Amino acid sequence: MSAVHGANPLRDAADRRLPRIAGPSGLVIFGVTGDLSRKKLMPAVYDLANRGLLPPGFSLIGFARREWADEDFAQEVYEAVKQHARTPFREEVWQQLIQGMRFVQGDFDDDTAFEQLKSTIEDLDKAQGTGGNFAFYLSVPPKFFELVVQQLKKHGLADQKDGSWRRAVIEKPFGHDLTSAKELNEVVHEVFPPEAVFRIDHYLGKETVQNILALRFANTLFEPIWNRSYVDHVQITMAEDIGIGGRAGYYDGIGAARDVIQNHLLQLLALTAMEEPASFDADALAAEKTKVLGAVKLPKDLGKSTVRGQYAAGWQGGAKAVGYLQEDGIDPQSKTDTYAAIKLEIDNRRWAGVPFYLRTGKRLGRRVTEIAVVFQRAPHSPFDHTATEELGRNAIVIRVQPDEGVTVRFGSKVPGTQMEIRDVSMDFAYGESFTESSPEAYERLILDVLLGDSNLFPRVEEVELSWKILDPIEQFWDKHGKPAQYQSGTWGPVEADEMLARDGRSWRRP
Ligand code: BG6
Repeated sequence: MSAVHGANPLRDAADRRLPRIAGPSGLVIFGVTGDLSRKKLMPAVYDLANRGLLPPGFSLIGFARREWADEDFAQEVYEAVKQHARTPFREEVWQQLIQGMRFVQGDFDDDTAFEQLKSTIEDLDKAQGTGGNFAFYLSVPPKFFELVVQQLKKHGLADQKDGSWRRAVIEKPFGHDLTSAKELNEVVHEVFPPEAVFRIDHYLGKETVQNILALRFANTLFEPIWNRSYVDHVQITMAEDIGIGGRAGYYDGIGAARDVIQNHLLQLLALTAMEEPASFDADALAAEKTKVLGAVKLPKDLGKSTVRGQYAAGWQGGAKAVGYLQEDGIDPQSKTDTYAAIKLEIDNRRWAGVPFYLRTGKRLGRRVTEIAVVFQRAPHSPFDHTATEELGRNAIVIRVQPDEGVTVRFGSKVPGTQMEIRDVSMDFAYGESFTESSPEAYERLILDVLLGDSNLFPRVEEVELSWKILDPIEQFWDKHGKPAQYQSGTWGPVEADEMLARDGRSWRRP
């Protein structure tokens, strides 16, 4: 997209409204038998085809250890689509899609399998007209990232010939800390040029997350007060009611902060706090996000400004939930955090002195992700003190999910003869204001990969800066005791409430 928009604003506006359709291409999914592939990637491919956004000869190759024939793979995709696709099933779309479906069986270190993959791609280029354009989606455990990328190089699969393209899509977490992220970046960039590497952070594919920039920069209403002169603090919450499900192998040893703060929550912070980019272009966006992430500062006393927790047994949704240490596959001595809260500051003119509180956790009260920009109290109130006691602070809440929209909280006179003031909300809800449906995050991101549009993908600098923020916290936690316990179904450990209380603030109860 970056290079496409020139100087004609009318044509540009029209371009942006046209459906963006991928050119001749195919997708190879490594780790195709995994959860992510079944629940998100395969249904997203179908939904894109169903919306008419994929080329007629689009091809999908699954690569995994399972002993499947092409038909078995197609059957798996069919079931995933039936269960998880968002758009209605249409036989004609499905019949077209299976023409280009193939399966390659093998381990990631199996040279024969990679040769097989190569010839499958060549066959599809001829039969389906994919033009040599393939994206390789690494939906595999992070320990295999380097191996798969090296295998692609060894077998000539990363070579871009005759105007065709090859791209790598890498799932998170990208590394385990700054050092490992840098090592991984080196390996990846030896094989693929920077513009061919797409690091996935699926939060950036969410409609409400993209709307943060629209809200801030397409209006005059918000930006003048979006700074230290008016904002008291910002709270970014990503709460989940689910536990770790069947993901013990991935989650234990990684924990909440590495799983989602390093990526999703710091990206939300960057979008909330960054300066206005010169354009909505990948380079301009990355430059501003990088600048603000580079200005993030950790408070000195990490013992007072961070909390990690681990869920204990409790009740959730009317059912008994086991504690983290009793989950299948978890080391009973594990110190892995399933909850993390951290306070950050941003060392620049706009935000100096405004704390950004980030929190996330599994098995919390309910599933909700939101960004609350909480404003200072009015400098003076002409009303009787007792009449305004119940008044909270003004807030703008960006409701990322599940009830997508924006809420503005402010005080209003309660009808009656007294001058009593109470907080009220003004709500914008996507469902009420738009008839258009939003694509699922993975749909949007897969389409962008096929189009070569990197706006919604974090750059290497952003990933590294995010590790730089998190590493000292993880090191501090490693040295200091165990995570605080919290009961499943609650809003996290009391230590997190105490952390805000020390600053004279409290967490919102979404
Ligand atoms: C993933 C994390 O990135 O995001 C999971 O690895 C988490 O642990 C998931 O459950 C949440 O995604 P969403 O889109 O449901 O908020």
